Amino acid sequence: MDFMQFHAPTKIVQSPGLLTSGENEFSTYAGRRAIVISDQVMASLDVPEKLIRTLAVAGVKVGIVYTEVPQDSDLQVVSHVAELGRNCGANMLVAVGGGSVIDTAKAANILLNHGGELKDYQGYQLLTEPLYPLVVIPTTIGTGSEVTPIAVIADHEEMRKLSFVERFITPELALLDPEITYTLPPKIAAATVMDALTHAIESYTCLEHNPMSDMYAVQAIQLILSEIVSGTSPEFDHDARAKLQLASTIAGVAFANSMVGGVHSLAHALGGVAKVPHGVANSIVLVAMLRYNFDAIEDRLAHLARAVSLNGAGDDSEAAKALLFHLTEIQALLHELTGLPTKLQDVGVRKDQFAEIIDRALEDGSTIYNPKELTSESLMAILEEIY
Ligand SMILES: [Fe+2]
Repeated sequence: MDFMQFHAPTKIVQSPGLLTSGENEFSTYAGRRAIVISDQVMASLDVPEKLIRTLAVAGVKVGIVYTEVPQDSDLQVVSHVAELGRNCGANMLVAVGGGSVIDTAKAANILLNHGGELKDYQGYQLLTEPLYPLVVIPTTIGTGSEVTPIAVIADHEEMRKLSFVERFITPELALLDPEITYTLPPKIAAATVMDALTHAIESYTCLEHNPMSDMYAVQAIQLILSEIVSGTSPEFDHDARAKLQLASTIAGVAFANSMVGGVHSLAHALGGVAKVPHGVANSIVLVAMLRYNFDAIEDRLAHLARAVSLNGAGDDSEAAKALLFHLTEIQALLHELTGLPTKLQDVGVRKDQFAEIIDRALEDGSTIYNPKELTSESLMAILEEIY
């Protein structure tokens, strides 16, 4: 390793009921004017309404509430949100929603401060000054977006996803209220937690891992593997759900300070070409990619296996294999309990799409961090295996 840095600037608070009782956390922002950003699902559950009452108690004015962020937010939405914020004189942003809502807020914060076209800010660490404070309340478990410096926004005209990586778009405060996640359907909860697990495992095994990101990755993996079944099944346990929510945030800190790898390369490509939901794609790809990477990461997988008390007495190879077997068992159990798909053919992927999926995966930004080189042939073999 010739370089490392670690940046985790977000204050993280977790408590059931924060949405309605988190006024103390907002009091730092008293006197500011907020734009509240959310989506229709949250609006139908009165979540923005409850948030506005909490903000009012804290003395935060609400300039405007925007609840139209779509699943796959794009340049037009971001530009519209920034304009609404500018028109009402907003000097802070509060996002309550999933990854798309949070990423919209992050990107809109750039335009709210600097104006112009979002496309012009595409890239890596172009900003030199802090933006307005952004507070986020994630309503799903998995993306880690509440603690990362990354926003992904669609450019539907060019049919591309644009990435913005800026330390200044990282949320200042993340409020984790487990109660908000109680309405997540089990299949979606399971898929999104598999995304978080993939963040942690890829963070730990990719080429950019470092001792500090490792620390977060291991903790996230321990929590997720011990709670994923009880926290996502239809009769889920509330305490397990809260642990998974925190684990997802911890995994976000881990990969924000290392990278991800080939599982995400393929998941991004499967999402782009065949509209496979991100968590589902990660879940389907994970074990096959780890098996492909096996000889390059055997010692790291063995360490993870022992960290979760699997086959501690065996040699590295045995311990690493025990971890992969355990992951396969978990996937089978989640499939049984929640209907989480385990094969590409179950999510509408066609074999005639493989060539395009492979091309996109090879171009993906995560590919160069995979611990073993990815080739067209190796990706084809993985796709055939998980079809
Ligand atoms: Fe992900």
